[in-house]
Amino acid sequence: MKLIDGKKISEQLLGEIKLSVENRLKNNLKIPHLAAILVGDDGASKTYVNSKIKACKSVGFKSSLYSYKVSISEIELISQIKKVNEDKDIDGFIVQLPLPGHIDQDKILNEVDPYKDVDGFHPNNYGKMTLGVDTFLPATPAGIIELIKRTKIKTEGKKCLVIGRSQIVGRPISILLSQNKTFGNSTVTVAHSRSVDLKKLCLESDIIISAIGIPEFIKGDMIKEGSSIIDVGITRVKDHTSSKGYKIVGDVDLKSVSSKAGFVTPVPGGVGPMTISMLLKNTLRACEIAD
Ligand code: GUN
Repeated sequence: MKLIDGKKISEQLLGEIKLSVENRLKNNLKIPHLAAILVGDDGASKTYVNSKIKACKSVGFKSSLYSYKVSISEIELISQIKKVNEDKDIDGFIVQLPLPGHIDQDKILNEVDPYKDVDGFHPNNYGKMTLGVDTFLPATPAGIIELIKRTKIKTEGKKCLVIGRSQIVGRPISILLSQNKTFGNSTVTVAHSRSVDLKKLCLESDIIISAIGIPEFIKGDMIKEGSSIIDVGITRVKDHTSSKGYKIVGDVDLKSVSSKAGFVTPVPGGVGPMTISMLLKNTLRACEIAD
């Protein structure tokens, strides 16, 4: 089994982005500016947003964080989004998900200016992605494709199982992997909570993209010899030995799959860092489009 070092690949990408920012500076062009909208005080969401802001600093981007109480109304949140849409200095922004239950997520994502929608969640961009038209791709699926590219995992003609059908990961990665593009052309199956005999589906697959959020769910006896396993799971599990009181665990039982798998992405240090670098890549692109 070979581990795919997402942290290292992400650092390479961040290095490339930093170089582009330095070139922009030399040419008196605008510094890219990413904003994040965070509602409520969910610990995991705060951690993710802080990592995105930290990454902005590391490549020389400007960043802004707009935090709102969990009680903010839908109308108020929409009016804040409109302000960010109109702020000429901000090139791209994200609304960190999930949102509290009283806020309609689809309605909110529809308010984001599609040209600043660096998460690729606005229906215009999501629709373009589905049609195979060049646009902002959602960061996690784009990061997975980048890992596959840079690791040279063959996708053409391969049986690929996506476990999970979320708007953020499962649905878009299933679309990208089945498209008629260099790192597509897979025969994709999307499994979800109503699927039957998941083990059989896994055993038949050359590539498994797991985004179910059940710690160490994928075991060695569920996978095909030599298959590639991309672990998108990030679950916080209590851990008294850690200063934080928890540790992050993926969907894959690494020990159990180690003697059978071809490639595996570790958690942490696999897909997670790629999500951040792809978001920054989209932000750079938004800034370049606005030049
Ligand atoms: N929550 C989990 N993943 C994501 C993501 O990629 N973007 C946003 N905005 N929220 C998320």
